[in-house]
Amino acid sequence: MTQQTTQIPVSSIILDEAIYPRKGIDHRRVAIFAENIRDGIAFDPIEVEPCPDKPGFYRLLDGAHRWSAYKSTGVEEVKVIIKDLDGNDPLLYAAEKAIGPKQLTEEEAKDTARRAYAGNTCLRSADIGKAIGRSRQAVDAYIADLRAVNQMGRDIKIFCMHRLGIPQDRIAKRLGLDQKTIHYHLGKMPILANSLNADLSRGFTVAQVAQKHGWPDPMVWSLALEGKTDHDRFKALGWGFCTWDKWEWNDCDNRFGDDWPGRIPAQMIAHILRYFSKPDDLILDPMAGGGVTSDACLAMGRRCWAFDMKDRPDTRPEIEPFTWDVSSAQSRLWPVSAKEKPDLILFDPPYFDKKAADYDKKSISGLSKKAYLDFLEAFFILLKQNVKKKTRLAFINADWRDFQNTPAIEEKHKGGILIDDYLDILKRTGWYHTHIIQAPLSSQRFSPVVVSAMQKKGILGVISRYVIVLDQNN
Ligand SMILES: C[S@@+](CC[C@H](N)C(=O)[O-])C[C@H]1O[C@@H](n2cnc3c(N)ncnc32)[C@H](O)[C@@H]1O
Repeated sequence: MTQQTTQIPVSSIILDEAIYPRKGIDHRRVAIFAENIRDGIAFDPIEVEPCPDKPGFYRLLDGAHRWSAYKSTGVEEVKVIIKDLDGNDPLLYAAEKAIGPKQLTEEEAKDTARRAYAGNTCLRSADIGKAIGRSRQAVDAYIADLRAVNQMGRDIKIFCMHRLGIPQDRIAKRLGLDQKTIHYHLGKMPILANSLNADLSRGFTVAQVAQKHGWPDPMVWSLALEGKTDHDRFKALGWGFCTWDKWEWNDCDNRFGDDWPGRIPAQMIAHILRYFSKPDDLILDPMAGGGVTSDACLAMGRRCWAFDMKDRPDTRPEIEPFTWDVSSAQSRLWPVSAKEKPDLILFDPPYFDKKAADYDKKSISGLSKKAYLDFLEAFFILLKQNVKKKTRLAFINADWRDFQNTPAIEEKHKGGILIDDYLDILKRTGWYHTHIIQAPLSSQRFSPVVVSAMQKKGILGVISRYVIVLDQNN
């Protein structure tokens, strides 16, 4: 921890309640200090740190009563120590300072302990206790319920990742735990699942059980449908099964996947899984976005390794962070060194030029047309080099034409990227299609005003989207 003593305006100091351990200021104490100031008695400098979200301001770490007294006596500048806490918890630091002159009340100690733990669940009871002037056991009692919820959250994460077939070393790395801890938690899983299974067998719905136990819906579905056939899973989930090669849905099933730019319906993933994979197969989703593939895999009893450049460790620990960069031979990295290879790759990249503003700057959606196609070519080669001979690829993409600006009669050959462009690249890189399934986007996303303008100008819109399924046999 470093510090620097200097003179700053009293008006640049604030009392931030988030890091203040007491219930309020003791006005009698302030009045005595004000009296002392008027009598010319000098105080120790108060301690502050720069405000994280208010440049030019400082928040109090120690000396709230002295600061209030300075304000009430009209002092304009005071001597302060500006602290750099080097990542130490400011609330606990402030508490440790506060208990010097006067212990915290029971209510203040409990509240401070809970706030500190909620802000950082890695804090140890003994360290919190030392700061607030209480024993480790007292802190354990203050935070017991918070710790139980956190433990449950961690258990669910471990259970989910394990169920998706993510190896223990990767679960440990992702959750910042050691492998022994993961192993210990996995041992508790059957007991954890028992109480949910009991509620399911009593006739509670999946949604009710999920809500009661605080589990995500897809995890409860994975328990509820254990041992069922794909056919029965579809029935239980209320998904009709498309017999022909045209799959159409107006809406995404909101029980699976997050609201995400370019989200695809879980029903589409489930159809791909049902037609082109077997129970317990390993599915790879290299650009997993809102997590619809991993959720659908839980419901369909498949394992899934998912990656995305967007890291969301709290809500989507099963999507491991990874940015595919195929711009040079050296950076053609594969995210994991596991021996096991996927049975099916489910690849739903950002479509060319679409939603570029919604994704990260490094996303491939912002590339030029040539760079986008070059990326796909290099990526398909990379996939081939890292999977089994028998691995299939399901590539989801849409036709792209500049239809918003151009009447159909003025459009030129090769003015866009159409399905044959993808098929050419795929063939060149050793992927041969066995099926082309039409899975059009809903035309309902166009407003009546836009449709009417398109009709007037002779513009032919695009809703074509395809699931191209490929293997590696020529
Ligand atoms: C169309 S979205 C996937 C949507 C997903 N199937 C769903 O329904 O939620 C494409 C994803 O690719 C990711 N992405 C784009 N470029 C990437 C790159 N170079 N490496 C890793 N992820 C990338 C984006 O962050 C985005 O989440």
